[in-house]
Amino acid sequence: MADKVKLFVNGIEVEVEAGKNLIDAIGAVGIEIPHLCYHPALGADGNCRMCLVGIEDGRPPLVPACKTPAQAGMKVLLNAEHIKKIQHDVMEFELINHPIDCPICDQAGECKLQDYYMSYDQRESRMTVPQVVKNKKMDYGCGVVHDQERCVVCGRCVRFCRQITKTGELGIINRTDDARVAIFPGRPLNNRYALNVVDICPVGAMTSRDFRFKQRVWFLEKDPGICHGCAKGCNIYIDHNRPKYQDDIIYRFRPRLNNQVNGYFICDEGRLSYKKENDGRLFDGRIGDQVRSLQDVLAACVKEIQRAAKTLILLSPDCSLEQMVGVKALAEKIGATLSGYSDGYIKEGDGDGYLIQDDKSANRAGLALLGIDCAKEAFEKAVQDAQLLLNFNNNLGLSYNDSELGKLLKDTRTIAITTHDDKVTALADWAVPVASFSEYGGSIVNCDNILQTFRKAVTKNNDLADIGTIAAMLGSPLQSNGERYAELRKFISALKGIEPENIPAEGLKLNESEAANVTA
Ligand code: SF4
Ligand code: SF4
Ligand code: FES
Repeated sequence: MADKVKLFVNGIEVEVEAGKNLIDAIGAVGIEIPHLCYHPALGADGNCRMCLVGIEDGRPPLVPACKTPAQAGMKVLLNAEHIKKIQHDVMEFELINHPIDCPICDQAGECKLQDYYMSYDQRESRMTVPQVVKNKKMDYGCGVVHDQERCVVCGRCVRFCRQITKTGELGIINRTDDARVAIFPGRPLNNRYALNVVDICPVGAMTSRDFRFKQRVWFLEKDPGICHGCAKGCNIYIDHNRPKYQDDIIYRFRPRLNNQVNGYFICDEGRLSYKKENDGRLFDGRIGDQVRSLQDVLAACVKEIQRAAKTLILLSPDCSLEQMVGVKALAEKIGATLSGYSDGYIKEGDGDGYLIQDDKSANRAGLALLGIDCAKEAFEKAVQDAQLLLNFNNNLGLSYNDSELGKLLKDTRTIAITTHDDKVTALADWAVPVASFSEYGGSIVNCDNILQTFRKAVTKNNDLADIGTIAAMLGSPLQSNGERYAELRKFISALKGIEPENIPAEGLKLNESEAANVTA
Protein backbone atom coordinates (compact mmCIF):
# COMPACT_ATOMS: atom_id res chain seq x y z
CA MET A 1 0.00 0.00 0.00
CA ALA A 2 1.54 3.30 -1.06
CA ASP A 3 2.03 6.03 1.56
CA LYS A 4 -0.57 8.75 1.53
CA VAL A 5 -0.06 12.45 2.20
CA LYS A 6 -2.48 15.30 2.67
CA LEU A 7 -2.08 18.45 0.62
CA PHE A 8 -4.24 21.34 -0.53
CA VAL A 9 -5.54 21.99 -4.03
CA ASN A 10 -7.06 25.46 -4.42
CA GLY A 11 -7.38 25.52 -0.62
CA ILE A 12 -9.23 22.17 -0.40
CA GLU A 13 -7.54 19.34 1.49
CA VAL A 14 -7.11 16.08 -0.43
CA GLU A 15 -5.30 12.84 0.35
CA VAL A 16 -3.03 11.57 -2.41
CA GLU A 17 -0.25 9.08 -3.00
CA ALA A 18 3.08 10.40 -1.73
CA GLY A 19 5.90 10.86 -4.23
CA LYS A 20 3.77 10.63 -7.38
CA ASN A 21 3.96 13.63 -9.65
CA LEU A 22 1.13 16.13 -9.17
CA ILE A 23 -0.62 15.21 -12.46
CA ASP A 24 -1.08 11.58 -11.41
CA ALA A 25 -1.46 12.17 -7.66
CA ILE A 26 -4.15 14.82 -7.97
CA GLY A 27 -5.62 13.20 -11.07
CA ALA A 28 -6.32 10.07 -8.98
CA VAL A 29 -8.76 12.07 -6.82
CA GLY A 30 -10.53 13.44 -9.89
CA ILE A 31 -8.83 16.82 -10.30
CA GLU A 32 -7.41 17.41 -13.77
CA ILE A 33 -4.14 19.16 -14.47
CA PRO A 34 -3.97 19.67 -18.25
CA HIS A 35 -0.90 18.15 -19.87
CA LEU A 36 0.29 17.17 -23.34
CA CYS A 37 3.84 15.82 -23.20
CA TYR A 38 3.61 13.79 -19.98
CA HIS A 39 2.49 10.15 -20.26
CA PRO A 40 2.65 7.80 -17.27
CA ALA A 41 4.43 5.10 -19.28
CA LEU A 42 6.96 7.52 -20.76
CA GLY A 43 7.67 9.84 -17.85
CA ALA A 44 7.94 13.62 -17.76
CA ASP A 45 9.66 15.52 -20.54
CA GLY A 46 8.66 18.98 -19.43
CA ASN A 47 8.39 20.45 -22.92
CA CYS A 48 4.76 21.49 -23.38
CA ARG A 49 4.32 23.71 -20.26
CA MET A 50 0.60 22.98 -20.28
CA CYS A 51 0.83 21.55 -16.76
CA LEU A 52 2.22 24.63 -15.02
CA VAL A 53 0.75 25.12 -11.54
CA GLY A 54 1.48 27.38 -8.59
CA ILE A 55 2.87 26.14 -5.28
CA GLU A 56 2.48 28.57 -2.40
CA ASP A 57 5.75 27.93 -0.60
CA GLY A 58 8.14 30.52 -1.88
CA ARG A 59 9.37 28.60 -4.94
CA PRO A 60 9.07 30.16 -8.44
CA PRO A 61 5.53 31.26 -9.25
CA LEU A 62 4.97 28.40 -11.74
CA VAL A 63 6.27 24.82 -11.70
CA PRO A 64 5.57 21.92 -14.10
CA ALA A 65 3.23 19.50 -12.31
CA CYS A 66 4.66 16.59 -14.30
CA LYS A 67 8.02 17.11 -12.61
CA THR A 68 6.80 18.01 -9.11
CA PRO A 69 6.26 15.21 -6.60
CA ALA A 70 3.31 15.41 -4.20
CA GLN A 71 4.43 16.30 -0.68
CA ALA A 72 2.60 16.62 2.64
CA GLY A 73 1.15 20.04 3.31
CA MET A 74 1.82 21.34 -0.22
CA LYS A 75 -0.49 24.18 -1.29
CA VAL A 76 -1.18 23.69 -5.00
CA LEU A 77 -2.89 26.46 -6.96
CA LEU A 78 -4.71 25.58 -10.16
CA ASN A 79 -7.24 28.36 -10.48
CA ALA A 80 -5.32 31.59 -9.85
CA GLU A 81 -5.49 34.24 -12.57
CA HIS A 82 -1.80 33.97 -13.44
CA ILE A 83 -2.22 30.18 -13.97
CA LYS A 84 -5.28 30.62 -16.16
CA LYS A 85 -3.29 33.15 -18.17
CA ILE A 86 -0.41 30.74 -18.75
CA GLN A 87 -2.90 28.05 -19.84
CA HIS A 88 -4.43 30.52 -22.32
CA ASP A 89 -0.97 31.44 -23.55
CA VAL A 90 0.18 27.84 -24.01
CA MET A 91 -3.03 27.00 -25.87
CA GLU A 92 -2.60 30.01 -28.11
CA PHE A 93 0.97 28.97 -28.80
CA GLU A 94 -0.07 25.38 -29.64
CA LEU A 95 -2.82 26.60 -31.96
CA ILE A 96 -0.89 29.29 -33.86
CA ASN A 97 -0.05 26.96 -36.72
CA HIS A 98 -2.59 24.23 -36.07
CA PRO A 99 -4.86 23.58 -39.08
CA ILE A 100 -8.02 23.22 -36.90
CA ASP A 101 -9.31 20.56 -39.25
CA CYS A 102 -11.33 18.84 -36.52
CA PRO A 103 -14.28 18.06 -38.85
CA ILE A 104 -12.09 15.69 -40.87
CA CYS A 105 -9.72 14.59 -38.08
CA ASP A 106 -10.03 11.06 -36.68
CA GLN A 107 -8.95 12.27 -33.25
CA ALA A 108 -11.92 14.65 -32.92
CA GLY A 109 -13.85 13.57 -29.85
CA GLU A 110 -10.79 12.19 -28.09
CA CYS A 111 -8.31 15.03 -28.76
CA LYS A 112 -6.54 16.76 -25.89
CA LEU A 113 -6.12 19.96 -27.90
CA GLN A 114 -9.83 20.11 -28.59
CA ASP A 115 -10.72 19.31 -24.97
CA TYR A 116 -8.26 21.78 -23.52
CA TYR A 117 -9.35 24.52 -25.90
CA MET A 118 -12.90 24.09 -24.62
CA SER A 119 -11.83 23.88 -20.95
CA TYR A 120 -9.00 26.37 -20.76
CA ASP A 121 -9.06 28.70 -23.73
CA GLN A 122 -12.10 29.43 -25.90
CA ARG A 123 -10.64 32.52 -27.53
CA GLU A 124 -10.51 33.72 -31.11
CA SER A 125 -7.23 33.40 -32.95
CA ARG A 126 -5.17 36.62 -33.13
CA MET A 127 -3.15 35.32 -36.09
CA THR A 128 -2.91 37.81 -38.95
CA VAL A 129 0.00 36.23 -40.82
CA PRO A 130 -0.15 33.02 -42.89
CA GLN A 131 0.33 29.79 -40.97
CA VAL A 132 3.44 27.65 -41.42
CA VAL A 133 2.64 24.96 -43.96
CA LYS A 134 3.90 21.44 -43.21
CA ASN A 135 3.36 18.00 -44.69
CA LYS A 136 0.18 16.00 -44.31
CA LYS A 137 -0.75 12.36 -44.92
CA MET A 138 2.81 11.07 -44.56
CA ASP A 139 3.23 7.30 -44.60
CA TYR A 140 5.49 6.54 -41.62
CA GLY A 141 5.21 2.75 -41.98
CA CYS A 142 3.41 0.02 -40.02
CA GLY A 143 0.06 1.57 -40.93
CA VAL A 144 0.84 4.90 -39.21
CA VAL A 145 -0.06 8.07 -41.12
CA HIS A 146 1.42 11.34 -39.87
CA ASP A 147 0.12 14.88 -40.21
CA GLN A 148 2.91 17.31 -39.37
CA GLU A 149 0.58 20.31 -39.19
CA ARG A 150 -1.47 18.78 -36.37
CA CYS A 151 1.59 17.83 -34.31
CA VAL A 152 2.22 19.76 -31.07
CA VAL A 153 5.77 18.34 -30.88
CA CYS A 154 5.17 16.85 -27.46
CA GLY A 155 7.67 14.08 -28.25
CA ARG A 156 5.55 11.21 -26.86
CA CYS A 157 5.82 9.18 -30.07
CA VAL A 158 9.57 9.76 -30.23
CA ARG A 159 10.02 8.65 -26.61
CA PHE A 160 7.80 5.61 -27.19
CA CYS A 161 10.12 4.39 -29.95
CA ARG A 162 13.18 5.08 -27.82
CA GLN A 163 12.03 3.85 -24.43
CA ILE A 164 9.45 1.13 -25.10
CA THR A 165 10.34 -0.53 -28.41
CA LYS A 166 13.94 0.73 -28.30
CA THR A 167 13.88 1.02 -32.10
CA GLY A 168 14.26 4.80 -32.32
CA GLU A 169 12.68 5.31 -35.74
CA LEU A 170 11.24 8.75 -34.95
CA GLY A 171 12.97 12.00 -34.19
CA ILE A 172 12.23 15.73 -34.01
CA ILE A 173 14.01 17.77 -36.67
CA ASN A 174 14.38 21.54 -37.08
CA ARG A 175 13.53 24.16 -34.47
CA THR A 176 10.88 26.63 -33.37
CA ASP A 177 7.80 26.70 -35.60
CA ASP A 178 9.53 24.53 -38.18
CA ALA A 179 10.08 21.67 -35.70
CA ARG A 180 8.48 18.45 -36.87
CA VAL A 181 8.43 14.74 -36.14
CA ALA A 182 10.12 12.75 -38.88
CA ILE A 183 11.50 9.37 -39.76
CA PHE A 184 15.03 8.99 -41.10
CA PRO A 185 15.07 8.91 -44.94
CA GLY A 186 14.05 5.46 -46.16
CA ARG A 187 13.73 4.09 -42.60
CA PRO A 188 10.06 3.96 -41.66
CA LEU A 189 8.58 2.63 -38.43
CA ASN A 190 9.56 -0.98 -38.14
CA ASN A 191 8.43 -2.51 -34.87
CA ARG A 192 5.55 -4.71 -33.76
CA TYR A 193 4.03 -2.10 -31.45
CA ALA A 194 4.11 0.93 -33.79
CA LEU A 195 0.37 1.63 -33.76
CA ASN A 196 0.58 2.55 -30.07
CA VAL A 197 1.89 5.95 -31.22
CA VAL A 198 -1.62 6.61 -32.52
CA ASP A 199 -3.05 6.15 -29.01
CA ILE A 200 -0.40 8.11 -27.17
CA CYS A 201 -0.41 11.04 -29.59
CA PRO A 202 -2.56 13.55 -27.69
CA VAL A 203 -3.80 15.10 -30.95
CA GLY A 204 -4.64 13.81 -34.42
CA ALA A 205 -1.09 13.92 -35.75
CA MET A 206 -0.61 10.14 -35.71
CA THR A 207 -3.50 8.22 -37.25
CA SER A 208 -4.03 4.59 -38.12
CA ARG A 209 -4.41 3.81 -41.81
CA ASP A 210 -6.70 1.00 -40.78
CA PHE A 211 -9.11 3.19 -38.80
CA ARG A 212 -8.86 6.49 -40.71
CA PHE A 213 -12.21 7.90 -41.79
CA LYS A 214 -14.09 4.70 -40.92
CA GLN A 215 -16.11 5.95 -37.96
CA ARG A 216 -16.57 9.02 -35.75
CA VAL A 217 -15.42 8.02 -32.31
CA TRP A 218 -18.55 9.31 -30.56
CA PHE A 219 -20.61 6.69 -32.38
CA LEU A 220 -18.51 3.88 -30.90
CA GLU A 221 -19.44 1.83 -27.86
CA LYS A 222 -16.25 1.19 -25.90
CA ASP A 223 -16.43 -2.08 -24.01
CA PRO A 224 -13.64 -3.72 -22.03
CA GLY A 225 -12.32 -7.03 -23.37
CA ILE A 226 -9.26 -9.26 -23.47
CA CYS A 227 -7.24 -9.88 -26.64
CA HIS A 228 -7.22 -13.57 -27.60
CA GLY A 229 -4.30 -13.16 -30.02
CA CYS A 230 -1.75 -14.84 -27.75
CA ALA A 231 -1.23 -16.18 -24.26
CA LYS A 232 -0.52 -12.74 -22.76
CA GLY A 233 -4.18 -11.78 -22.61
CA CYS A 234 -3.65 -8.04 -23.04
CA ASN A 235 -6.50 -5.86 -21.86
CA ILE A 236 -8.28 -4.00 -24.64
CA TYR A 237 -11.22 -1.81 -25.45
CA ILE A 238 -13.51 -3.28 -28.07
CA ASP A 239 -14.84 -0.25 -29.97
CA HIS A 240 -17.93 -1.21 -31.90
CA ASN A 241 -21.03 0.26 -33.44
CA ARG A 242 -24.31 -1.27 -34.42
CA PRO A 243 -25.99 0.45 -37.38
CA LYS A 244 -29.79 0.31 -37.31
CA TYR A 245 -31.14 -3.18 -38.10
CA GLN A 246 -27.63 -4.53 -38.69
CA ASP A 247 -25.12 -6.59 -36.76
CA ASP A 248 -22.66 -4.88 -34.47
CA ILE A 249 -19.37 -4.17 -36.25
CA ILE A 250 -16.05 -3.91 -34.42
CA TYR A 251 -13.98 -0.99 -35.72
CA ARG A 252 -10.89 -1.28 -33.58
CA PHE A 253 -9.20 -2.74 -30.53
CA ARG A 254 -7.32 -0.29 -28.32
CA PRO A 255 -5.12 -0.96 -25.28
CA ARG A 256 -6.71 -0.82 -21.82
CA LEU A 257 -4.46 -0.25 -18.82
CA ASN A 258 -3.65 -3.29 -16.72
CA ASN A 259 -0.41 -2.87 -14.79
CA GLN A 260 -0.34 -6.58 -13.98
CA VAL A 261 -0.59 -7.73 -17.61
CA ASN A 262 0.14 -5.32 -20.46
CA GLY A 263 0.57 -1.87 -18.94
CA TYR A 264 -0.58 0.79 -21.41
CA PHE A 265 0.19 -0.97 -24.69
CA ILE A 266 -0.70 -3.87 -26.98
CA CYS A 267 0.99 -5.30 -30.07
CA ASP A 268 -0.14 -4.38 -33.58
CA GLU A 269 -1.11 -7.93 -34.50
CA GLY A 270 -3.43 -8.20 -31.51
CA ARG A 271 -4.80 -4.72 -32.20
CA LEU A 272 -5.71 -5.63 -35.78
CA SER A 273 -7.08 -9.05 -34.81
CA TYR A 274 -10.49 -7.37 -34.37
CA LYS A 275 -10.99 -8.13 -38.08
CA LYS A 276 -11.24 -11.84 -37.32
CA GLU A 277 -14.20 -11.09 -35.08
CA ASN A 278 -16.04 -9.51 -38.02
CA ASP A 279 -14.87 -11.52 -41.02
CA GLY A 280 -15.06 -15.11 -42.24
CA ARG A 281 -17.60 -16.04 -39.62
CA LEU A 282 -20.02 -18.95 -39.76
CA PHE A 283 -23.57 -17.86 -39.01
CA ASP A 284 -25.65 -20.76 -40.37
CA GLY A 285 -25.79 -24.38 -39.30
CA ARG A 286 -24.95 -26.94 -41.99
CA ILE A 287 -25.50 -30.61 -42.62
CA GLY A 288 -23.06 -31.57 -45.36
CA ASP A 289 -23.19 -28.55 -47.63
CA GLN A 290 -26.85 -27.82 -46.93
CA VAL A 291 -27.74 -24.83 -44.75
CA ARG A 292 -30.15 -26.01 -42.03
CA SER A 293 -31.68 -24.51 -38.89
CA LEU A 294 -29.62 -24.78 -35.72
CA GLN A 295 -32.31 -27.03 -34.20
CA ASP A 296 -32.06 -29.46 -37.11
CA VAL A 297 -28.28 -29.55 -37.00
CA LEU A 298 -28.16 -30.04 -33.23
CA ALA A 299 -30.80 -32.79 -33.38
CA ALA A 300 -28.72 -34.56 -36.03
CA CYS A 301 -25.58 -34.13 -33.90
CA VAL A 302 -27.26 -35.59 -30.80
CA LYS A 303 -28.35 -38.65 -32.85
CA GLU A 304 -24.83 -39.02 -34.21
CA ILE A 305 -23.30 -38.81 -30.72
CA GLN A 306 -25.69 -41.55 -29.53
CA ARG A 307 -24.86 -43.70 -32.55
CA ALA A 308 -21.06 -43.44 -32.38
CA ALA A 309 -19.37 -46.20 -30.41
CA LYS A 310 -16.24 -44.10 -29.88
CA THR A 311 -16.18 -40.33 -29.80
CA LEU A 312 -13.26 -37.95 -29.53
CA ILE A 313 -13.83 -34.40 -28.32
CA LEU A 314 -11.26 -31.78 -29.24
CA LEU A 315 -11.15 -28.45 -27.42
CA SER A 316 -9.66 -25.18 -28.59
CA PRO A 317 -7.04 -23.59 -26.31
CA ASP A 318 -8.95 -20.35 -26.90
CA CYS A 319 -12.08 -21.56 -25.10
CA SER A 320 -12.91 -19.92 -21.78
CA LEU A 321 -12.53 -21.91 -18.55
CA GLU A 322 -16.31 -22.09 -18.25
CA GLN A 323 -16.59 -23.54 -21.76
CA MET A 324 -13.83 -26.02 -21.04
CA VAL A 325 -15.54 -27.39 -17.92
CA GLY A 326 -18.84 -27.59 -19.81
CA VAL A 327 -17.25 -29.62 -22.62
CA LYS A 328 -15.27 -31.74 -20.15
CA ALA A 329 -18.52 -32.65 -18.39
CA LEU A 330 -20.04 -33.58 -21.78
CA ALA A 331 -17.06 -35.83 -22.53
CA GLU A 332 -17.44 -37.57 -19.17
CA LYS A 333 -21.18 -38.02 -19.66
CA ILE A 334 -20.91 -39.62 -23.11
CA GLY A 335 -17.68 -41.49 -22.35
CA ALA A 336 -15.68 -39.61 -24.99
CA THR A 337 -11.93 -39.11 -25.07
CA LEU A 338 -11.05 -35.45 -24.49
CA SER A 339 -8.04 -33.72 -26.03
CA GLY A 340 -6.74 -30.17 -26.22
CA TYR A 341 -4.10 -30.90 -28.86
CA SER A 342 -3.15 -27.61 -30.46
CA ASP A 343 0.59 -27.52 -31.20
CA GLY A 344 -0.08 -25.49 -34.32
CA TYR A 345 -1.07 -22.51 -32.19
CA ILE A 346 2.55 -22.25 -31.00
CA LYS A 347 4.95 -20.25 -33.18
CA GLU A 348 8.36 -21.12 -31.76
CA GLY A 349 10.62 -18.07 -31.45
CA ASP A 350 7.92 -15.50 -32.27
CA GLY A 351 7.65 -14.17 -28.70
CA ASP A 352 9.69 -11.10 -27.85
CA GLY A 353 10.02 -11.23 -24.08
CA TYR A 354 7.79 -8.16 -23.78
CA LEU A 355 4.11 -8.80 -24.58
CA ILE A 356 4.09 -11.06 -27.65
CA GLN A 357 4.13 -14.76 -26.80
CA ASP A 358 5.05 -17.82 -28.88
CA ASP A 359 1.71 -19.34 -27.93
CA LYS A 360 -1.02 -17.79 -30.06
CA SER A 361 -3.83 -19.17 -27.92
CA ALA A 362 -5.55 -17.38 -25.08
CA ASN A 363 -6.15 -20.12 -22.52
CA ARG A 364 -3.74 -23.05 -22.87
CA ALA A 365 -3.11 -22.65 -19.15
CA GLY A 366 -6.82 -23.43 -18.65
CA LEU A 367 -6.43 -26.80 -20.40
CA ALA A 368 -3.60 -27.68 -18.00
CA LEU A 369 -5.55 -26.48 -14.97
CA LEU A 370 -8.43 -28.78 -15.89
CA GLY A 371 -6.06 -31.70 -16.53
CA ILE A 372 -6.95 -31.96 -20.23
CA ASP A 373 -4.40 -33.93 -22.23
CA CYS A 374 -2.79 -32.04 -25.12
CA ALA A 375 -0.33 -34.66 -26.43
CA LYS A 376 -0.12 -35.11 -30.20
CA GLU A 377 0.35 -38.90 -30.14
CA ALA A 378 -2.66 -39.44 -27.88
CA PHE A 379 -4.79 -37.17 -30.08
CA GLU A 380 -3.80 -38.87 -33.34
CA LYS A 381 -4.39 -42.32 -31.88
CA ALA A 382 -7.78 -41.24 -30.57
CA VAL A 383 -8.75 -39.86 -34.04
CA GLN A 384 -7.88 -43.23 -35.59
CA ASP A 385 -9.96 -45.08 -33.00
CA ALA A 386 -12.95 -42.75 -33.07
CA GLN A 387 -15.96 -42.86 -35.37
CA LEU A 388 -16.90 -39.32 -34.46
CA LEU A 389 -14.86 -36.18 -33.78
CA LEU A 390 -16.56 -33.30 -31.97
CA ASN A 391 -14.33 -30.34 -32.63
CA PHE A 392 -15.01 -27.38 -30.34
CA ASN A 393 -13.44 -24.62 -32.42
CA ASN A 394 -9.92 -26.02 -32.53
CA ASN A 395 -8.29 -24.72 -35.72
CA LEU A 396 -6.63 -27.95 -36.84
CA GLY A 397 -5.52 -26.09 -39.95
CA LEU A 398 -2.78 -24.56 -37.78
CA SER A 399 -1.44 -27.98 -36.79
CA TYR A 400 -1.77 -29.80 -40.14
CA ASN A 401 -1.48 -28.84 -43.79
CA ASP A 402 -4.36 -29.58 -46.17
CA SER A 403 -3.27 -33.05 -47.22
CA GLU A 404 -2.38 -34.10 -43.65
CA LEU A 405 -5.75 -32.86 -42.48
CA GLY A 406 -7.57 -34.75 -45.24
CA LYS A 407 -5.74 -37.96 -44.33
CA LEU A 408 -6.25 -37.47 -40.59
CA LEU A 409 -10.01 -37.05 -40.85
CA LYS A 410 -10.74 -39.38 -43.80
CA ASP A 411 -12.33 -42.15 -41.71
CA THR A 412 -13.81 -39.98 -38.97
CA ARG A 413 -17.12 -38.19 -39.17
CA THR A 414 -16.73 -34.63 -37.85
CA ILE A 415 -18.95 -32.15 -36.10
CA ALA A 416 -17.39 -28.68 -36.22
CA ILE A 417 -18.67 -26.38 -33.49
CA THR A 418 -17.03 -23.30 -34.83
CA THR A 419 -16.78 -19.53 -35.01
CA HIS A 420 -15.34 -19.40 -38.55
CA ASP A 421 -16.18 -20.84 -41.93
CA ASP A 422 -12.70 -22.09 -42.74
CA LYS A 423 -11.10 -25.15 -44.34
CA VAL A 424 -11.59 -27.24 -41.16
CA THR A 425 -15.29 -26.36 -41.19
CA ALA A 426 -15.48 -27.21 -44.91
CA LEU A 427 -14.31 -30.77 -44.13
CA ALA A 428 -16.96 -31.28 -41.44
CA ASP A 429 -20.11 -33.36 -41.88
CA TRP A 430 -22.04 -31.09 -39.53
CA ALA A 431 -21.25 -27.45 -38.74
CA VAL A 432 -22.63 -25.54 -35.75
CA PRO A 433 -21.96 -21.77 -35.56
CA VAL A 434 -20.93 -20.39 -32.17
CA ALA A 435 -20.16 -17.03 -30.61
CA SER A 436 -16.62 -15.68 -30.67
CA PHE A 437 -14.91 -14.13 -27.65
CA SER A 438 -16.28 -10.60 -28.12
CA GLU A 439 -19.79 -12.09 -28.02
CA TYR A 440 -19.74 -13.91 -24.67
CA GLY A 441 -18.36 -13.55 -21.17
CA GLY A 442 -15.96 -15.86 -19.38
CA SER A 443 -12.53 -16.24 -17.86
CA ILE A 444 -9.10 -17.26 -19.11
CA VAL A 445 -5.68 -17.79 -17.54
CA ASN A 446 -2.71 -16.13 -19.19
CA CYS A 447 0.93 -17.17 -19.56
CA ASP A 448 1.75 -15.59 -16.17
CA ASN A 449 -0.99 -17.58 -14.38
CA ILE A 450 -3.26 -14.58 -14.03
CA LEU A 451 -6.94 -15.39 -14.26
CA GLN A 452 -8.89 -12.63 -16.01
CA THR A 453 -12.56 -12.25 -16.77
CA PHE A 454 -14.23 -10.59 -19.71
CA ARG A 455 -17.80 -9.97 -20.68
CA LYS A 456 -19.94 -9.86 -23.78
CA ALA A 457 -19.33 -6.71 -25.80
CA VAL A 458 -20.89 -7.28 -29.20
CA THR A 459 -24.49 -8.06 -30.07
CA LYS A 460 -25.66 -9.59 -33.33
CA ASN A 461 -29.20 -9.48 -34.69
CA ASN A 462 -29.33 -13.21 -34.09
CA ASP A 463 -26.94 -13.78 -31.20
CA LEU A 464 -25.03 -17.04 -31.52
CA ALA A 465 -24.86 -19.43 -28.57
CA ASP A 466 -21.43 -19.88 -27.01
CA ILE A 467 -19.60 -23.21 -26.73
CA GLY A 468 -20.73 -23.75 -23.11
CA THR A 469 -24.37 -23.48 -24.19
CA ILE A 470 -23.90 -25.72 -27.24
CA ALA A 471 -22.18 -28.32 -25.03
CA ALA A 472 -25.24 -28.19 -22.75
CA MET A 473 -27.54 -28.65 -25.78
CA LEU A 474 -25.51 -31.69 -26.81
CA GLY A 475 -25.95 -33.28 -23.39
CA SER A 476 -23.47 -31.70 -20.95
CA PRO A 477 -24.92 -31.89 -17.44
CA LEU A 478 -23.66 -28.34 -16.75
CA GLN A 479 -26.60 -26.48 -18.17
CA SER A 480 -26.04 -22.91 -17.02
CA ASN A 481 -23.14 -20.50 -16.68
CA GLY A 482 -23.64 -20.62 -12.91
CA GLU A 483 -23.22 -24.41 -12.91
CA ARG A 484 -20.12 -24.18 -15.05
CA TYR A 485 -18.59 -21.57 -12.75
CA ALA A 486 -19.40 -23.71 -9.68
CA GLU A 487 -17.65 -26.65 -11.34
CA LEU A 488 -14.65 -24.46 -12.09
CA ARG A 489 -14.22 -23.76 -8.40
CA LYS A 490 -13.46 -27.45 -7.86
CA PHE A 491 -10.33 -27.00 -9.98
CA ILE A 492 -9.25 -23.51 -8.95
CA SER A 493 -9.10 -23.03 -5.21
CA ALA A 494 -8.39 -19.29 -5.63
CA LEU A 495 -12.01 -18.94 -6.86
CA LYS A 496 -13.50 -20.34 -3.65
CA GLY A 497 -15.75 -17.71 -2.12
CA ILE A 498 -15.29 -15.32 -5.07
CA GLU A 499 -18.21 -14.53 -7.32
CA PRO A 500 -17.29 -13.85 -10.98
CA GLU A 501 -18.16 -10.15 -10.63
CA ASN A 502 -15.72 -9.82 -7.69
CA ILE A 503 -12.65 -11.08 -9.55
CA PRO A 504 -10.23 -8.10 -9.45
CA ALA A 505 -10.14 -5.91 -12.58
CA GLU A 506 -6.39 -6.50 -12.92
CA GLY A 507 -6.93 -10.28 -12.67
CA LEU A 508 -6.43 -12.91 -10.01
CA LYS A 509 -2.92 -14.26 -9.60
CA LEU A 510 -3.35 -18.00 -9.07
CA ASN A 511 -1.71 -19.51 -6.01
CA GLU A 512 1.42 -21.63 -6.02
CA SER A 513 -0.18 -25.06 -6.34
CA GLU A 514 -2.49 -23.95 -9.15
CA ALA A 515 0.42 -22.27 -10.91
CA ALA A 516 2.39 -25.53 -10.65
CA ASN A 517 -0.52 -27.34 -12.24
CA VAL A 518 -0.71 -24.78 -15.04
CA THR A 519 2.91 -25.17 -16.03
CA ALA A 520 3.02 -28.95 -15.47
S1 SF4 B 1 3.03 13.21 -33.53
FE1 SF4 B 1 1.73 13.35 -31.71
S2 SF4 B 1 2.85 12.25 -30.13
FE2 SF4 B 1 4.30 12.73 -31.75
S3 SF4 B 1 5.21 14.66 -31.14
FE3 SF4 B 1 3.50 15.14 -32.50
S4 SF4 B 1 1.78 15.50 -31.13
FE4 SF4 B 1 3.34 14.45 -29.93
S1 SF4 C 1 0.66 -9.41 -27.09
FE1 SF4 C 1 -0.79 -11.09 -27.48
S2 SF4 C 1 -2.54 -10.69 -26.15
FE2 SF4 C 1 -1.30 -8.80 -26.29
S3 SF4 C 1 -2.23 -7.63 -27.94
FE3 SF4 C 1 -0.59 -8.84 -28.83
S4 SF4 C 1 -1.60 -10.72 -29.52
FE4 SF4 C 1 -2.98 -9.72 -28.11
S1 FES D 1 3.06 17.80 -19.16
FE1 FES D 1 4.38 18.96 -17.90
S2 FES D 1 5.47 20.15 -19.31
FE2 FES D 1 4.23 18.91 -20.58
